[in-house]
Amino acid sequence: MAKLIDNHAHSRCLNSFGTSPNVSIIGASGGIGAALTHVICREIPNATVHAYSRRLLTEIPDNATSSTIDLEDEKSIAEAASRAFRETGHLDAVFVATGLLHDGEAIQPEKSWRAINAFSLEQAFRINTVGPALIAKHFLPLMKRDGKSIFACLSARVGSIGDNQLGGWYAYRSSKAALNMIIKTLSIELQRSNSNAICVGLHPGTVDTNLSKPFQGNVRHREIFTPYNAANMLLSVVDNLTTADSGKIFSWDGSVIPY
Ligand SMILES: NC(=O)c1ccc[n+]([C@@H]2O[C@H](COP(=O)([O-])OP(=O)(O)OC[C@H]3O[C@@H](n4cnc5c(N)ncnc54)[C@H](OP(=O)(O)O)[C@@H]3O)[C@@H](O)[C@H]2O)c1
Repeated sequence: MAKLIDNHAHSRCLNSFGTSPNVSIIGASGGIGAALTHVICREIPNATVHAYSRRLLTEIPDNATSSTIDLEDEKSIAEAASRAFRETGHLDAVFVATGLLHDGEAIQPEKSWRAINAFSLEQAFRINTVGPALIAKHFLPLMKRDGKSIFACLSARVGSIGDNQLGGWYAYRSSKAALNMIIKTLSIELQRSNSNAICVGLHPGTVDTNLSKPFQGNVRHREIFTPYNAANMLLSVVDNLTTADSGKIFSWDGSVIPY
């Protein structure tokens, strides 16, 4: 039996970014994106938080604003980025918490190569790889230059080629592996243009959200985190990172996941 972990441990919540960071969270309607939004707003009352999702959010903390981004519409990303910069200036932290594993209908993780189909592969790459790359294109130039800043994309351990023991899940695995390559490549260019900025991938563990719900039965003898617990742990990981960590993929416990 998997155990649901919700210890509400308070994280070192972006302490290394000062007391009033500008934060953008893409995918704020999702399980982990919403938890990141709420934890940051609760722990850092002076933070300015831009919460982005496909639809405007109604339940949002006072120190957050809700705006729209559709990963499949680059214009919406460009407009959101320039609006964020106009309103608050440079960004201290960007979290890309969007992602697709299944859509509850046609798109399902493949158990065998027999289930591979072009539409699922294309859609996984569109959301898990192309979307975050376009977010990077428009948001990385806005990162703070005179101190630590972070651009963090939610990736997944199953995107590790070196760590692939089980096989299956062709579209999700390969789109996250490609995302990891995007992250590494962005970090190299970022080091040249903004040497204080850090670009990483984050694996949140198995988290109790719509994305993982149908597959939680597979998680035997392991822990399933609540979204709040995952958000706290990821914020602690990010707080401890330095520019030497840029380009790497980190797990919720701070360990590095091989590419
Ligand atoms: N949960 C886990 O166990 C787990 C494990 C490893 C990695 N991760 C990663 O963690 C991240 C967050 O996952 P989650 O568990 O929080 O999943 P989730 O609750 O399903 O949230 C997914 C988010 O992605 C957004 N999204 C999907 N397509 C989009 C599009 N075209 N434009 C804009 N937003 C779009 C969704 O927006 P809508 O609300 O509009 O659909 C939602 O906000 C993902 O990258 C996932 O791969 C999760």
